[in-house]
Amino acid sequence: MINRKMILSLIACALFTVTAYCQNNSAVDSLKGLKEVYAGKFLIGTAGDLKGYSDAELANIKKNYDILTPENCMKPQPTHPTEDTYSFDTPDAMVKWCQQNGVKVWGHTLVWHSQTGRWFFQGADGQPATRELALERLKKHIFTVVGRYKGQVRGWDVVNESIADSGAGKTENLRKFSWYKTVGPDVLTMAFKWAHETDPNAMLFYNDYNIEQGAVENNGKHASSMILLKRLIAEGAPISGVGIQGHWHLDTNIGDVEKAITDYASLGLKVSITELDVTATGSNSGAFGVRTGDRTIPKENYLKQAEVYRQLFEIFKRHADVIDRVTFWGISDNRSWRRGQDALLFDGKLQPKPAFNAVIEVGSK
Ligand code: XIL
Repeated sequence: MINRKMILSLIACALFTVTAYCQNNSAVDSLKGLKEVYAGKFLIGTAGDLKGYSDAELANIKKNYDILTPENCMKPQPTHPTEDTYSFDTPDAMVKWCQQNGVKVWGHTLVWHSQTGRWFFQGADGQPATRELALERLKKHIFTVVGRYKGQVRGWDVVNESIADSGAGKTENLRKFSWYKTVGPDVLTMAFKWAHETDPNAMLFYNDYNIEQGAVENNGKHASSMILLKRLIAEGAPISGVGIQGHWHLDTNIGDVEKAITDYASLGLKVSITELDVTATGSNSGAFGVRTGDRTIPKENYLKQAEVYRQLFEIFKRHADVIDRVTFWGISDNRSWRRGQDALLFDGKLQPKPAFNAVIEVGSK
């Protein structure tokens, strides 16, 4: 039989649980998601293909994010695995879910050296494709993919990661293979023009990693990116902005990030942070880092990670007039290409980390 004493102790127990939860989750307690806190400043995004996501994960996306980037499913390899085959089931379902749930979509990506079928660059009899053949294929690819999602995406990362690493910053320092080898540097401008022709209302971005590096000293990959962007603008590429991917770590040079944003804005371009994550351990290179399961990341790393996120969002807020979007590369430490380095705001169980609280606090100020 349930007596008064039992009921009282049940209430006391429930109160204790709620209080303990709230103390650990003060920012969550506000019941505001990330997108609400940053509304009017810039869009908040995340990445994922949505296939196999749980209800809790989908609810997390609806609550926190304005816009979704397909993590893999709109890339050339998955959408166009062979010359005569296209595959749109996953991106179609993703776009549909987004439309039904009030989430915008960002297209990623068209011209890239990675996750792109080798067939683009192969000619007859095992010879390399000619420049003309490769361009014809690229044009068809862009017309088909951009055309399919015309009016349904806010914009595209037209070109991804064309600058090589470790340059001094005196030249564009383009990679020396795939599109750049087969076609040459003008492939970039042509891709922007074809994307614009297909969907004139889409924002069109150049997207790359580490392109903030060297901004303060005006050298390295950042200086190369400025040379490249000036050339694209001079050639009449309909480029709207630059995506700084933002795969960062605990010791990232924050000064470079702010200077890079103002440099790109000085060219009349918008800026987005397109693939944000800050590893809680290890560097920002190499996709998978520490193996899940048998690792220990010290507690203070999560606090330091929160501090890095805080400083980054303070910068983003200061430059909100030129920033279109800040997109995290995944929703949780379980849905992350840096799984094992705990680089995101929610842990593997979708619980907010100190980094989440820091980002919410900056946005609420
Ligand atoms: C990554 C995905 O997150 C992984 O799932 C995939 O195996 C490899 O690609 N820069 C980009 C993204 O522009 O497309 C990459 O995404 C991460 C680096």
